[in-house]
Amino acid sequence: MAKLKLAVPISGRGSNLQALIDACALPDFPAEIVLVISNKADAQGLERANAANIPTLVIDHKAYTSRTAFDAEMTKAMKFAGTELICLAGFMRLLSDEFCSHWHNRMINIHPSLLPSFKGLDVQQAAIDAGARFSGCTVHYVRPEMDTGPIIVQAAVPINDDDNADTLAERILVQEHIIYPEAVRLIAEGRVTVEAERAIIEGHTSPETTMINPMPESE
Ligand code: GRF
Repeated sequence: MAKLKLAVPISGRGSNLQALIDACALPDFPAEIVLVISNKADAQGLERANAANIPTLVIDHKAYTSRTAFDAEMTKAMKFAGTELICLAGFMRLLSDEFCSHWHNRMINIHPSLLPSFKGLDVQQAAIDAGARFSGCTVHYVRPEMDTGPIIVQAAVPINDDDNADTLAERILVQEHIIYPEAVRLIAEGRVTVEAERAIIEGHTSPETTMINPMPESE
């Protein structure tokens, strides 16, 4: 069966891009990356794409007079590459309404919190400051309002009393690298539909365990 063609916009480190590259390298994985776009020429993720022989493109947002013009250039490049699904991976630009509607239900994002809690930036510190006992990560379809849209997969990560933003981010990142390829796989297998802004997954199996933090102490 033909593989789902992915474009991955990045702005930096690209560890989630790497997780997608690694997943796509597995023979049975139903997707392939056809283009990596960065708005920054020095993004580390570009080296990861080069090492995997994936075409890259730098589109510097500063060279465009409007967000719409920059987004239109991205759409042009991604269409030319035959993109069927956009996987935002640490892409640090807000997207125009036009771009979001053009790629409606064909664009996903990964965010390092359990949405709808803790949208925006510095979310690990925000979760710690709020005293939450769990945070985690979310893969969701993209809507024009930042960090909203139908949720496809989430991973819950416990917060320890001695966590700081870095230790928590590190533990969440491990889960990001698991759930991002998993969400792509579900979509590529045609198992995800959106009904009334909820993602419904064919053959969805919930874990049987429930996590409690702190763990109940036996008597
Ligand atoms: C990740 O934490 C992701 O959830 C967020 O931006 C960060 C990107 O990291 N959207 P990387 O570039 O994938 O390493």
